[in-house]
Amino acid sequence: MNTKYRKTIIAGNWKMNMLVSDIKPFIEELKPLLPKVKTCDTVLCVPAVNVPAMIRAGKEAKIACGTQDVSCHDKGAYTGEISAAQIADVGAKFCIVGHSERRAYHNETDLDVNCKAKKLLEHGVSPIICVGESLEQREAGLTMSHINYQVRAALAGIDAAGLRRCVIAYEPIWAIGTGKTATAEQAEEVCGEIRSIVREIYGARPARSISILYGGSMNAKNAAELLAMPDIDGGLIGGASLKPADFATIIAATGAENE
Ligand code: 13P
Repeated sequence: MNTKYRKTIIAGNWKMNMLVSDIKPFIEELKPLLPKVKTCDTVLCVPAVNVPAMIRAGKEAKIACGTQDVSCHDKGAYTGEISAAQIADVGAKFCIVGHSERRAYHNETDLDVNCKAKKLLEHGVSPIICVGESLEQREAGLTMSHINYQVRAALAGIDAAGLRRCVIAYEPIWAIGTGKTATAEQAEEVCGEIRSIVREIYGARPARSISILYGGSMNAKNAAELLAMPDIDGGLIGGASLKPADFATIIAATGAENE
């Protein structure tokens, strides 16, 4: 983390878990566990149908609400899709785009990811853009070229003002839901590379200001070590964000520097 120049963000990705009736009890359990002094921005990215309930429940605990996908289209005959205007309309402030699960199970391309990010920006919603390599790519030494391609493709045509609202999450596919976390050094290496790419495209100041998160089996035990890295500005957390105590511990780990 580098709290002087950029925001620290702890974002949970609930994926397709939890019901509306789970939200209030979750927040009530989480709230007393949160640090008294705020050391990060906290977001929970929930299924779209849970957004209103999360906004209501999260207000007092200062937890912003995000969702997990958006349509590339503005409106019209796209059954089942949810537009950026609709996401903004219900009050979600963030939306994950390009998660590897969507790339894998819904054939999302880098073009789709770029389009989705732009639609969100048009409506004032911050995209959390996910990038990450597969195990095969890592083992073949293709991590950096793959990340380079994904980041540049996702940001194509987004201007500096748009970039200011973007968050990038490095999520190595092999670390998601596997319990196999990237080492702090591995995660730092790629997050640092992402910052260099942003620097090449937008210059030094935007690169210094963008929050780059790590995701992939981040948990209560390993969060502090990952967050101590200079280019890791927070986490995108799956499994551990479903457990109030673990999520609170990760949030508290962002305060380690200030203790
Ligand atoms: P896990 O934390 O469960 O590995 O999931 C990470 C993730 O995919 C967050 O978007």
